[in-house]
This record gives sequence, C-alpha cells and structure tokens, in this order.
Amino acid sequence: MDIEAFIEEAVADLRSRIEGKAIVAASGGVDSTVVACLAHRAIGDRLIPIYVDTGYMRKGEGENVKGIFKDLGIDLNYVEASERFYKALEGVIEPEEKRKVIGGTFIDVFTDAAGETDAEHLIQGTIAPDWIESGGGIRDTIKSHHNVGGLPDELGLDLIEPIRDLYKDEVREVAKFLEIPVHDRQPFPGPGLAIRILGEATPDRTRIVREACHIAEEEILKGAQEGYYEEPWQYFAVLLPVRSVGVHGDLRAYGYTIVVRAVYSLDGMTAAYCPIDHKVLDRISRRISNEMGEEVTRIVYDITNKPPSTIEWE
Ligand code: XMP
Repeated sequence: MDIEAFIEEAVADLRSRIEGKAIVAASGGVDSTVVACLAHRAIGDRLIPIYVDTGYMRKGEGENVKGIFKDLGIDLNYVEASERFYKALEGVIEPEEKRKVIGGTFIDVFTDAAGETDAEHLIQGTIAPDWIESGGGIRDTIKSHHNVGGLPDELGLDLIEPIRDLYKDEVREVAKFLEIPVHDRQPFPGPGLAIRILGEATPDRTRIVREACHIAEEEILKGAQEGYYEEPWQYFAVLLPVRSVGVHGDLRAYGYTIVVRAVYSLDGMTAAYCPIDHKVLDRISRRISNEMGEEVTRIVYDITNKPPSTIEWE
C-alpha cells in the first residue's frame, strides 16, 4: 500500500465531503486516532473529537487519551457516560444483544453531542474486519462490531468511515507515518471491558476485570521485555461469572474466574495463542490473587487459536 497516496486521498475526500462541523468518535485507539488526525488535517478546528467514557475503559485510559490528543495538538471533548452505559446494560447477558445495546448507546451519546455542536457528520474508525465479521452480503455474522451493529437506520448524521477498507496492519503503518504515538498499542475493542465480562457487565464486575486486565497487561509486556517471548499482538483478562471455592487466609472464599488471554495475529482475522512462559503466568496468578483478594478464586490461561475461537470471548 502507498501510505502517502492513501493519506493524501483520504484528506482530500474528507475536505470535499464535510461541510460545517464533524464529530469523531475518539477512543485513543489506533483506528480512531488515525481518522481524527486525517480529519483534523482536512478541516482543522471544525473537527470535534469526542471521547466517551463508557465506564468500560481500561485503567488510566481517559488520562492516556487526553495526553495523546494534547501531544497531537487536537482539542478533545471528554464525555462522562458511565452511568448511561451501566443502566443500558442492566440485565443484558446475550453477547450480540450486549454489542447492539452498546452500539445504540454510543450513537445516542454522539447524537446528543452532535445536537449541541451543530455537527452534521460523524466520522468513525471502522476498519475492514469490523464490517466483514459483522456480516454483509454472503458472510455470516460472527459478531456485530459496536461501530457497525448498533447503527440505527435513521442515524440523522452523515456517517463517514475513511479507513473502512484497511486492515489493522495497514492502519498501523498509516499511524506510524503520521507519527501518532499509539501506532504500536495493542487493539482494544469498541465495546470495551463489557465484552470481557461474560454475563451481565455490572459496575462491580467491571472493576474486577479492569484490575485483572491491568495486571495481565503489565506482566505480559514485562515478560516480553525480559525476552521470554515476542510481545503478543493482544493480551488481556476476561471475567467469567463462574464461581468456585477457594481459601483466602484461613477462610473459605467463593469468587469469580479470571481467564488470561494472549495471542499473536497480523490482522485479527486469525490468531494463535501465545506460549507465555510459566514464570510469567505464575507472576500473573500470584499478583491477581494477592492484589484482588477473595473476589477471584481461579485463574486460567486460554490456549485456543482463532479459529475456532475468536480473540475476545464475546
Ligand atoms: P475477535 O474477537 O472478533 O476480534 O476475534 C478481532 C479483533 O477485533 C477486536 N474487536 C473489536 N474492535 N469493535 C472494535 O473496534 C468491536 O466491536 C470489536 N470486537 C472485537 C478484538 O479486540 C480483536 O483485536
């Protein structure tokens, strides 16, 4: 792919298509940061980047994103919407329904924000695997990616997806070229930690999986830096609502199960589980047990490839 030509064309397209203001859904991930940068080049301050705190973000994510946009010289609007998402997901268990509820809530939040700013366009960082796996034409719906499945028919905003034909590795190349500091960050799904909690994604379970994810990320990255293995493409933790009996101190505990997952992949379409060294797995296990107390009584490692599994559990 000719990166420079792609950027030039994308910026020119955005410039000619956008009249007035446009909002961009900025999550701080590589996809949305790339489209924010392209759009900022195209229309400057008429771009309104919005970061939505869904309550399902990773530890420190909000501050991180603020820092990234500050360094890029783009003003970021921070919308706190945790309660709205938690409420919308109350009682929602089925993965596809969860994705659709999240997508719908995202669009509601953006429609409100657009109303306040007179924007007429919504720019999203949808990439090829998002819509391929969301089913289209001859393909089966594997998962409704939040930025595809949740769109209502009458969006009321002109939807623009400048990188919808790119794969993740290509987006990363574009990011590198644009000197975006997130170019080597691991992917994080739009629906966030909500799809890393099987069953109901309550605030309490979110707190637990956020901490477990943080520990897994830190230790797996550290293990790679120490040379035990190549840094995986993606690595995180998942909470299963399966409780098992354990002991904490001298007392019986009855806590959740945490799954640690780490995979190698090129574009997210296929993946191989990463043979994480047992020394590192042991550190993760001890840290989760010590730091998270009786809420987690079982920690397991996922050894499935994609296919037959997907990378995320929902
Ligand atoms: P799966 O789980 O489908 O994931 O094997 C492939 C890659 O896509 C990410 N993913 C998403 N990204 N919105 C996104 O922006 C989504 O709804 C979504 N679902 C999965 C996943 O983290 C992996 O990198």
